[in-house]
Amino acid sequence: MSSSKWRIIAVLVGIAVVIGAAIQFVPTPVSRVNPPVQSEPPWDSPATRETFYRACGDCHSNQTAWPWYSRTAPMSWLIAADVAKGRGRLNVSEWNGRQRSADEAAEVVLEGEMPLPTYLIMHPNARLSEEERQALALGLEASFAR
Ligand code: HEC
Repeated sequence: MSSSKWRIIAVLVGIAVVIGAAIQFVPTPVSRVNPPVQSEPPWDSPATRETFYRACGDCHSNQTAWPWYSRTAPMSWLIAADVAKGRGRLNVSEWNGRQRSADEAAEVVLEGEMPLPTYLIMHPNARLSEEERQALALGLEASFAR
């Protein structure tokens, strides 16, 4: 490559670095806090609870584990938005509050809609086998219907 091409590449990389650094100062629109746990559903078994926290808890409870990349823009914005939306539908840490989508939980698990596919990229242990899906769906139906 000619030196002028290298110069253009260097300038573009420089611009990307500056933008990448600058967006770190843009506050996350949704805060990344874990409010206190108020009350949990009457879990039908420890296994249902365990699988739920493994595959769903980061977005549907107040006990979210925030990894380092969740503190780095622009991922931080997307992750915080997903957690806020997820908690708004179903939050097992605020069972005393309104649960808009608890009755759909078994269905989204069976259909493979949840956990969100993008989440599985960084959380391979949240991947559920067919048997785990069946068991979790039954467990959630029993736990959330009470
Ligand atoms: C990475 C975060 C994340 C994980 C992990 C996750 N969810 Fe969700 N969940 C969401 C978001 C975001 C929405 C709202 C989707 C929308 O608005 O389209 C949602 C919506 C839902 C809904 C409402 C129905 C719907 O499709 O909108 C249910 C029920 C649900 N999730 C259950 C679960 C269960 C059960 C698990 C575990 C097997 C799980 N979720 C894992 C983020 C997550």
